[in-house]
Amino acid sequence: MKDFVFCSPTTFIFGRDTEKQVGDYCQKFKKSKVLIHYGGGSVIRSGLLDRIKGSLDRAQVAWVELGGVKPNPRASLVYEGIKLGRTEQVDLILAVGGGSAIDSSKAIAAGIPYIGDFWDFYEGKALVQNPIAVATVLTIPAAGSEGSPGSVITREDGLLKRAVNDESLRPLFSILNPELTYTLPPFQTACGAADIMSHVFERYLTNTTDVEFSDRLCESVLRTMVQDTPRVLAKPDDYGPRSNIMWAGMVAHNDIVGTDREQDWSSHDIEHELSALYDVAHGAGLAVVFPAFMRFTLQHDVMRFAQLAVRVWNCEMDYEHPERTAAEGIARLTAFYHSIGLPTTFEALGARVEDIPVMAQKLNLTNGRKLGSFNPLTTQDVEAIYHLSRANAAN
Ligand code: NZQ
Ligand code: ZN
Repeated sequence: MKDFVFCSPTTFIFGRDTEKQVGDYCQKFKKSKVLIHYGGGSVIRSGLLDRIKGSLDRAQVAWVELGGVKPNPRASLVYEGIKLGRTEQVDLILAVGGGSAIDSSKAIAAGIPYIGDFWDFYEGKALVQNPIAVATVLTIPAAGSEGSPGSVITREDGLLKRAVNDESLRPLFSILNPELTYTLPPFQTACGAADIMSHVFERYLTNTTDVEFSDRLCESVLRTMVQDTPRVLAKPDDYGPRSNIMWAGMVAHNDIVGTDREQDWSSHDIEHELSALYDVAHGAGLAVVFPAFMRFTLQHDVMRFAQLAVRVWNCEMDYEHPERTAAEGIARLTAFYHSIGLPTTFEALGARVEDIPVMAQKLNLTNGRKLGSFNPLTTQDVEAIYHLSRANAAN
């Protein structure tokens, strides 16, 4: 196990009707003017936005609003939010929605006090300092941004999708009401499941030894997703599995399951190039990339893949040929994604083979730099993984 410092300071308010407490929590944290930031309209249609405004009004917390965040949130709206936040002198950005609304809120929060261009943070040219506080009312379990220090933004110029990770960007508080997820379209529920599972895989595939306890935590998240995703697809208003998924999504990415180990994250970077170029849903892209990455890296640590296959996919261990068990686990992952309605091949995403070199180049693996830590990848390796993902379904 690796040494670590772990601090997850977010207050989580979990349960039915909890969004009605948003005003009280703003008061508790002494926030007096809020920028409510949301997406393309689902929160208006569901009536959630009105309930939130009502709660803020009752607590006498002033607010302004900015909607229109797109999935794979764009830099242009972040600039608008920074301008509005400065003019209105807000002291909290309240994201109402999923990872996109939350990540855009984090970018605005970091950008308001910064004199330069907020994009500097996403290019590694500057460090986030003293951001405005962010709070969230989560409507889709997926990205884990409600508890994470991360934010991912797409800059339209050059179609660059880049991430920043800074501890100061963990939300002040996050409201998680599983009932708010009942209205999710089945495809978004499935994309969320793939993202949650991928956040665990990025940590599970590690070279750090003696991590049995956190392996078990990871497996527990994965088994929950495998069991409960089909249940909510069959019955969208089933509170029990919806609540398990919502909490699993937070636990998968606030780093409690991975803080003791070296983590990989190359599949996320490989996927981000797909969602930057084709605007595909992040979870759908991961459902295509991860099985291919696993097949590419299987030989690097056959026993780790075999352990995953046995403990999560109930495969029988073939002691003479553990690589067969390992491969069977990957095949079951692909079959699971297929069964919940996700694309499992590169072409099914609408991606084009001729773009593979461009996507691999954009990862900028030059001067000996490699991607990830489990089995560090070169540009050629990344290209090979994109090509492998064209045939995931064949396994
Ligand atoms: O925009 P609206 O109208 O709200 O509709 C959204 C959107 O179309 C809809 N939706 C959300 N909740 C709903 C709902 N529709 C009906 N009922 C509800 N309750 O779902 C669509 C997707 O929303 P989005 O916020 O884009 O989804 P998600 O949470 O998957 O976020 C994806 C973004 O998060 C980034 C991804 O790269 C992507 O840009 N990530 C952020 C991370 C982080 N900050 O730590 C880590 C992740 O790995 C990920 O990269
Ligand atoms: Zn993700």
